[in-house]
Amino acid sequence: MSKIENRIKELTDHTFGTWARQKAWSLPKMIVDAQGVYMYDDQGKSYLDFTSQLMCSNLGHKNKAVIEAIIKQAEKMPYIAPGFVTETSIQAVKALQTVMPKGLSKFFFSSSGAAANEAALKFIRQSMAPAYKIVSRYHSYHGATVGAMSFTGDPRRWPSEQARCTVQGVRFAPDCYCYRCPFDKTYPECNIQCAQYLDYMFKEEGNVAAFIVEPVVGTNGRIVPPPEYFPLVRKICNENNILLFADEVMSGWYRTGPCFAMDAWDIQPDIMTTAKGATAAYTPLGITAVSNKVAEFFDEEMFCHGQTYAYHALASAAVPAAVSEYKKLMDSGLPQKVSKYLEQELYKLSDKHECIGDVRGVGHFWGLEIVKNRKTKEPFNTKPDKITGASLMTAKIAGEAMANGVFLNPWIDTLVIAPPLIITEQEVDKAISVLDKALEIGDKEVESTSVAASRTSDFTKK
Ligand SMILES: Cc1ncc(COP(=O)(O)O)c(C=O)c1O
Repeated sequence: MSKIENRIKELTDHTFGTWARQKAWSLPKMIVDAQGVYMYDDQGKSYLDFTSQLMCSNLGHKNKAVIEAIIKQAEKMPYIAPGFVTETSIQAVKALQTVMPKGLSKFFFSSSGAAANEAALKFIRQSMAPAYKIVSRYHSYHGATVGAMSFTGDPRRWPSEQARCTVQGVRFAPDCYCYRCPFDKTYPECNIQCAQYLDYMFKEEGNVAAFIVEPVVGTNGRIVPPPEYFPLVRKICNENNILLFADEVMSGWYRTGPCFAMDAWDIQPDIMTTAKGATAAYTPLGITAVSNKVAEFFDEEMFCHGQTYAYHALASAAVPAAVSEYKKLMDSGLPQKVSKYLEQELYKLSDKHECIGDVRGVGHFWGLEIVKNRKTKEPFNTKPDKITGASLMTAKIAGEAMANGVFLNPWIDTLVIAPPLIITEQEVDKAISVLDKALEIGDKEVESTSVAASRTSDFTKK
């Protein structure tokens, strides 16, 4: 074993790798630096970050303004108990108010996306009692903690359920997943049955308090709903007195174009959570934002929640700096221009590679669904493969890309394309040319068909 491998084992022998059989986490790569859209390993090799780490480093690495804001706060006062008011949290709230969807007026600051969703669960169940059920969707991830995992649809919930680490009172509704419609319908003739069904479901279930959605589904597919979906969902929630809860932990912070994905449909959720891009991942922060109606309930009732690091000064200090950097970046027009280019280049890849079944996404948030057979849509891998640790085709493609200097995340049957918003067209070219080569691994195993790849993003523009 080399010297560096021994160094790595000093860590992995004594810590747990996330979401992994521990033997499979024995020799992860050592990263020593990151700058712009690149990260560097201990051998000096560079990797273009084509998924913003965990879809969170939206401003890229080493943004000066955000780092300086954190340093300034660390020198002044890194921590004070959450019961006190600080200038830092006042500034963070002010900055948030300039970008939050209308109607979300009151916030709780925690330290992760999952923690933001746990706080939301308390807001919902306390204020909506006796209604308590949460309706979620199968293609979703909401965090690793007990509550958030309970309303997560993806297969990471399964071992948690077996370990009895989930809460009761969660139901799953049909996904808005046009490439594999659960009703076997086609848009627009489907009349958005996935949304229409919610009305039936809410009425039959009874005691439903909230419907949670990732407005553009993140890890579980980068699925963009058709334009009619959210107006219909909002109407059905209103008619059934159910809170609409948007989890924008991943879809927020200009990843899909507007600051929050819900802004695209001009729909106001009753509760919204966000994290990741809120500080561009420079400090850990989760935000739970609620409407006046939800907030007012707690005027006389105890909000039975809190944590030592709520409103942490270092986390809060990054918010105004990040908001200002995002605004500057969006004003420059670069992300808007590059996202169109990225879309076009991904479509070109799908013309060339038969293993791409569907291309979908928006802004800097794209997915390539990898299939064995475009005609039958037979996948290479399914959800159980993720849990059993089977070798995934998407992981093989991502592994090949990594070996050639491009980092992207594989997830069961999709590749995540979500670069930092600062990426240039030249950098997109570089990543696409590496991905182009890596996709040949999938092509070699497809059952050849003459059917073209689907582009479920296109329909949203009609
Ligand atoms: C939509 C969504 N919600 C919640 C979470 C959980 O966030 P965290 O990992 O910060 O707890 C994630 C993480 O990827 C996410 O994508």
